[in-house]
Amino acid sequence: VNKGNGIKGLVDTGIETVPELYTLPPEERLEANTISTHHSIPVIDVSNWDDPKVTESICEAAGKWGFFQIINHGVPLEVLESVKEGAHRFFGLPNEERNKYWVGNSPSGTVALKTSFAPEAESVLEWKDYLSFRCSPEDLESFPLWPPVCRNEVVKYLESAKPVIRKLLEILLKGLKVKEMDEARKHSLIATPTINFNCYPRCPNPDLTAGVRPHSDVSTITILLQDDNGGLYVRATDGNSWIHVQPVNGALVINMGDVLQIVSNDRYKSVEHRAVANGSKDRVSVPIFVTPRMDAVFGPLPEVLENGEQPLYKEVVFSDYFKYFFSKKHDGKQTLDFA
Ligand code: SIN
Ligand code: FE2
Repeated sequence: VNKGNGIKGLVDTGIETVPELYTLPPEERLEANTISTHHSIPVIDVSNWDDPKVTESICEAAGKWGFFQIINHGVPLEVLESVKEGAHRFFGLPNEERNKYWVGNSPSGTVALKTSFAPEAESVLEWKDYLSFRCSPEDLESFPLWPPVCRNEVVKYLESAKPVIRKLLEILLKGLKVKEMDEARKHSLIATPTINFNCYPRCPNPDLTAGVRPHSDVSTITILLQDDNGGLYVRATDGNSWIHVQPVNGALVINMGDVLQIVSNDRYKSVEHRAVANGSKDRVSVPIFVTPRMDAVFGPLPEVLENGEQPLYKEVVFSDYFKYFFSKKHDGKQTLDFA
């Protein structure tokens, strides 16, 4: 696949139609009549994290929808705004500046520009370029090689989001009767954050193409910052319709990944979702994927199996799971078949 200037560079040439390489077969398009009009994802005010009502709503939403939004989480609005501006600045760079970071060619292994999801395995590409930052403490040593137009914003956002990540995991694990997060547990669940800058350039006909195809996340949890264009859809519990995640100013969208579904033995759901580009503006979103260490082994936790419950999954090494996930195109929720 010739990445050229990415889909961003192609859109900037002024194309007026969706190229064939990005045109989905009709059966893969998001049909308007499958968009739910009567459901929405819960918005939870977490200004008091330890309020039992708050922790209950979080665990309940994680089990029912697999998704919720949080407000009053403590990450300052300025930090959220500036990380989105950083993403716009990066994708607004001249092609030759941006292209320096293409995966395989980037000055550092911890930062890489990519297009679509698995271009080698896809006959129709996703309408998306993204810049990915690996953000473990060792990875941050290569900060000087990250793009100067946005690297400070990434680090600032990571630092402010860390307490939120910790709190969410603590609450979700308490909901599984896990009393303490020792070092081993931390490694096997939340060792490595990755921050992506997703850019879905303005699209001449968003109905014909996929920003991101339906998939569930390979993470433990994902914390997503989206802009006010909207475009994220979540599979409803009825299995047939899609719920739009309405942008809420200052909110973070939280979703459970496959790892959390596996360790919770299905108490928490890693739910399918997809994204659609915007017809008039570049949409950006900034997910933080919290994942186990590559060498971590995980499976249903002893605490959830305590009462003789049968494990629904066998143990897996995270790196095997991760490789499997990236070896094929996004194709709905099927990665769990692996475990
Ligand atoms: C994703 O789930 O991969 C992206 C979600 C979004 O950009 O809204
Ligand atoms: Fe996702």
